[in-house]
Amino acid sequence: MKGVILAGGRGTRLQPLTNLFPKSLLPVYDKPMIFYPLDFLIRSGVKDILIVIDYFHADMFMKYLHSGKEFGVNIQYKIQDHPHGLPDAIYHARDFVGDDDCFVVLGDNLAFDDVSTQVKSFKSGASVFTKAVNDPSRFGILYLDENDSVSDMVEKPEDPQSDLAITGLYMFDNTVFKKIPKLSKSARGEFEIVDLLELYLKEDQLSYTTLQEAWFDVGTFQGLQEAGFYISNQ
Ligand code: TTP
Repeated sequence: MKGVILAGGRGTRLQPLTNLFPKSLLPVYDKPMIFYPLDFLIRSGVKDILIVIDYFHADMFMKYLHSGKEFGVNIQYKIQDHPHGLPDAIYHARDFVGDDDCFVVLGDNLAFDDVSTQVKSFKSGASVFTKAVNDPSRFGILYLDENDSVSDMVEKPEDPQSDLAITGLYMFDNTVFKKIPKLSKSARGEFEIVDLLELYLKEDQLSYTTLQEAWFDVGTFQGLQEAGFYISNQ
């Protein structure tokens, strides 16, 4: 299993900070944000990790993470010229991943579970990590059928039938690189991760694991503050 951290993007919701710094290097309590997705992958047993970044901030990521040696892993970097969306960023990892599977983690997602068992037992399809949340209408939500299999995904449901938020942690088999070129841009002009997951769902190849520990999306000031508070209390 190869690891891929997506750390490009615009970071508009964290402006004006992201006018000065890339989002994934902003401080979350006492460390740059990307430390957490990196540490999560390392704890999952992943040793080869690609970081997708924008050209403007590439040097800043390299100054912090170098070759990964200090963290006991191999880190490589790939430039995404334009932030065309998450599937486009994932597609930039195709040469790095080769024939392997990949564990994609968003650079602004902090998770604290040990998922090494799920990584070891991953065989095929796509597997997402979900988190039970109090306010499902703010998230992309996974719906289950009577057998607890995935039946649907609904973006910010007004009348939620489930509380399982789809987090920014996804394991994909190698067919992901055949699926991504089939996608079209959405109305907001980006390739959407939910459309990619939908292709797996149509093939009945989408599974999930629910996180038990804390999970934060730190792409907003609220998330950033909550995560900082959580970490400072550990
Ligand atoms: P998002 O939070 O969806 O997008 P963003 O970072 O551009 O932020 P905003 O919506 O506030 O403008 O991105 C989630 C993660 O994925 C984040 O770590 C940045 C990364 N990303 C890429 O690497 N490439 C992309 O094209 C996009 C859109 C995001």
